[in-house]
Amino acid sequence: MLVLGVETSCDETAVALVRDGKEILSSRVLSQVEAHARFGGVVPNLAAREHVRTLASVLSSALEAAGGVVPDAVAVTDSPGLQAALLSGIAGAEGIALAYGIPLVGVNHVEAHLGAPFLALGELPSYPFLAFVVSGGHTHLFHARGPADLKLLGATIDDAAGEAFDKVAKMLGLGFPGGPALQRAAASGNPAAFRFKRPLLGSTSLDFSFSGLKTAVLYSCFGQEQDGRPRRVLPSNVLPQDVAASFQAAVVDVLVEKVRRAVAQTGVRRVAVGGGVACNGPLRTALAASAAALGHELLIAPPALCADNAAMVAARGCEHLLAGISRPPRVAPRTTWPREEVSLTP
Ligand code: KG4
Ligand code: ZN
Repeated sequence: MLVLGVETSCDETAVALVRDGKEILSSRVLSQVEAHARFGGVVPNLAAREHVRTLASVLSSALEAAGGVVPDAVAVTDSPGLQAALLSGIAGAEGIALAYGIPLVGVNHVEAHLGAPFLALGELPSYPFLAFVVSGGHTHLFHARGPADLKLLGATIDDAAGEAFDKVAKMLGLGFPGGPALQRAAASGNPAAFRFKRPLLGSTSLDFSFSGLKTAVLYSCFGQEQDGRPRRVLPSNVLPQDVAASFQAAVVDVLVEKVRRAVAQTGVRRVAVGGGVACNGPLRTALAASAAALGHELLIAPPALCADNAAMVAARGCEHLLAGISRPPRVAPRTTWPREEVSLTP
């Protein structure tokens, strides 16, 4: 079964063709980063306009690269994400499905991320496994027991890990997108310069909290004005690369510790990690070291499949079609997938 995937949930316009949910024939990702950079973050309506402007050319490029194949179905990200951006992709995908006379299925973006490590291996997901999605909007840790059976073990109670990277990068004036910029700055910094508290929320919790860490960066590195408000500029004796390295070390420690706990608590010995933050080099190294020490399997996709792409959407859509549990896209998209609404059925 050949599935065409469409992804427009944020600031990447992406189209891919994937066979049987595991073989990528082509994958095209057009980043809008330049359009948003001067605003210091993603502007939702601008993102939607850019998707509408570029989707057709990304689609023809993906079809051409796949050798002019004819898809059997279209899978589109329908939630969570920026509402206008999602709707532009859903409308485009509907047009493609109509033109070919093939079915259209909706895919949850977070679920698409959790299948990417298997897609990278050329396989469909094999259950059970622990699925850890660390992205700009989500920090979700699941016990994945089947294609329609995800048990949420823990999630962030405030900011997502990627959001924390982006906000701290902005504070430090490192530019946009924040995560990669912060990693680059951290490479020449001292991770022990500041000892930030690791928010672990008790000895057994699998939830996360990153907003306190962001505030700690502000007060302990920037300091306060006489009126008590945090300074906007770093004091001259504080190096931004030291702040970046210390912050990154704290986030990495927390993420790795939660995976360790989840393995210990569930006994599941296969861990799959996806989402944009899984591009982070020190996180990848630390997760690999922990997996080696504990003797569990670790699957992390290459960076191109960790970040937003349409191949993971096509793969997830295909997995659901093959399992007979696909559904049409929903046109009431949400910005995030709130922890209390993470359902066990697709
Ligand atoms: O999965 P993704 O591409 O989009 C969402 O679904 O949100 O994740 C984007 C997030 C952003 O917050 C970005 O700063 C972060 O992933 N990110 C990184 C790195 N590359 C991307 N964070 C830390 N280190 C990186 N190298
Ligand atoms: Zn994503």
